[in-house]
Amino acid sequence: MVEKVSALISSFMASMGEESVNALYEKVPQGKMLRAKLILEIAKSSKEAPKLAAVVEMIHAASLLHDDVIDEADIRRGAQSFNAECGDKSAIMMGDILYSNAFAKLTEFSSDIAKCVANAVSLLSEGELLDVELSKSFNADKEKYFKMIYGKTASLIEASAKSAALLEGLDADDFALYGKNLGLAFQIIDDVLDVTSTSSMLGKPALNDFKEGKVTLPYLYTYDKCSDKEKKHLQSLHKKSLNSDEIGWIRQKMDDAKAIKHSIDEAKRLGNEALKAIKKYNNKNLENIITQMIERDF
Ligand code: FPP
Ligand code: MG
Repeated sequence: MVEKVSALISSFMASMGEESVNALYEKVPQGKMLRAKLILEIAKSSKEAPKLAAVVEMIHAASLLHDDVIDEADIRRGAQSFNAECGDKSAIMMGDILYSNAFAKLTEFSSDIAKCVANAVSLLSEGELLDVELSKSFNADKEKYFKMIYGKTASLIEASAKSAALLEGLDADDFALYGKNLGLAFQIIDDVLDVTSTSSMLGKPALNDFKEGKVTLPYLYTYDKCSDKEKKHLQSLHKKSLNSDEIGWIRQKMDDAKAIKHSIDEAKRLGNEALKAIKKYNNKNLENIITQMIERDF
């Protein structure tokens, strides 16, 4: 079914009638399409579900094109990133084309659905800006971290589930809560994988987040357990290219603080909140999305 969504996005891009855009679009890395899967599963009986899924996936793809420029990332989904291959300028403009096309299609939906998705894109941008700001120095504030991951990741997943519920005539609040908690848990697992995965599994260097300035949940739990002297040392390694001794020291401190276990427990707690929100619908596929997301290793 997600193939139908990919085909729809290609057809939207092709309908612009600009060959050079189509050729460049083929270089945009394809992802897991989590948001499309959610929409197709929740708005099962709606003929409009693939189009809504295409809109959301185009927005998501645009945001990743821009994010890789912001993060100066060379790799995305195990392959060379679009900006590394085609340059920052093309990546920004390709993002703008995807984003504006998605919004043109969004206007074909009812105003409650259009508002829901448009509002999420504002939150997404605010979340990304907060990520940029927090990465400038060592952020030790968990509340700010959660606000940031809600914005940059959970808001669009929340809007995917909520807008699909609106399309299907289901309770929008139940599905919004499911999507929000799924999104928060998803980003925490992403942050854990940056620490625990090998670079070949992840398709990018391990401990990359910390080098980019991102003090994610495993680092926050570790920092909490450090002595004052260790806190200073951890802060001194922030945004640095780490040598093997420094990597070893961080990993040891994380082990001592059980930071990975605590982070996974937090993702599981949020996953359970998501499951609770939709329990009465008894939808095994939506339940499995939570379990698979928490147990994934890439
Ligand atoms: C990835 O975070 C970033 C996001 C999920 C959101 C990016 C949002 C924007 C650039 C603003 C919205 C822009 C448009 C055009 C809609 P990450 O860097 O932590 O994860 P990564 O490891 O996947 O790069
Ligand atoms: Mg990034």
